[in-house]
Amino acid sequence: MKNGSTRTGMPKILKCALATEGSVGAAGLGDVIGGPYDADPMPRTPALDALPQGDEKVRAVRDMFDAIAPRYDLVNRVMTLRMDVRWRRRAVHSLALPPKSTVIDLACGTGDLCRELAAAGLAPLGVDLSFGMLAAARTDAPLVQGDALRLPLQAGSADGVTCGFALRNLVALPPFLAELARVLRAGGRIALLEVATPPNRLMRWGHGVYFGTVVPRIGALLSDGSAYRYLPRSVAYLPEPDDMRRMIADAGFVDVDRRLLSGGIAQLILATRAR
Ligand SMILES: C[S@@+](CC[C@H](N)C(=O)[O-])C[C@H]1O[C@@H](n2cnc3c(N)ncnc32)[C@H](O)[C@@H]1O
Repeated sequence: MKNGSTRTGMPKILKCALATEGSVGAAGLGDVIGGPYDADPMPRTPALDALPQGDEKVRAVRDMFDAIAPRYDLVNRVMTLRMDVRWRRRAVHSLALPPKSTVIDLACGTGDLCRELAAAGLAPLGVDLSFGMLAAARTDAPLVQGDALRLPLQAGSADGVTCGFALRNLVALPPFLAELARVLRAGGRIALLEVATPPNRLMRWGHGVYFGTVVPRIGALLSDGSAYRYLPRSVAYLPEPDDMRRMIADAGFVDVDRRLLSGGIAQLILATRAR
């Protein structure tokens, strides 16, 4: 066991069918379950050759992550040369929250950020759309299957929110940011990690080749080629940095700070819920 993670059995996953229908109080979270709330009898082949929108995007993203979940961590470590571990650690420390603070990790996937949060003495709760990712998670944190745009949490109930590498997978950012502002208490903190395009021209060229050519090959070798071809293309969903800053401020946050990581191949966005 490391960083509060466990390999001893299935993670504890709360069913949250209402997450797709509207918000309920935290006390209304469902029972511990053994299967997804929207199970398909057969996994569908993710349709990601075009960049989907709306409900089609939700389904395609969920199916893609269900499909790649078993080898998601391995591919992540290989394709980022383990830099992703350092990025998540930095995100957690940048929250600068006191011990035992409640932090919701949205789009928690296999629980990497939940483990970092727990190791830092914080109290994480993970939420993700993909049951496959949650089932593959290695964390002791409570996990909820649900939609980050419709959280089953009471207003002002969280001290912090983290979200790692999922912004480009969401249908729209304004409702997501509004949901963050709703569930956070005044003065609560957010730390959003995402991939980025390096500002330096040479770095940008090298990164383009690596992300566009090498990453899909690593993905095809170790996991699912189409999913890792989608990854570089999905960056197109991300707004320009200034637009992103404005959206966050418009949602009710102050001190919006965007930091580039590892020469600009990743970004960390920090902000504080206005009082
Ligand atoms: C690239 S993975 C990142 C996982 C994890 N945060 C990490 O740092 O490794 C993106 C995750 O976002 C989840 N996701 C996508 N759309 C979502 C939504 N609307 N609500 C909750 N999770 C979502 C996917 O299921 C997937 O687990």
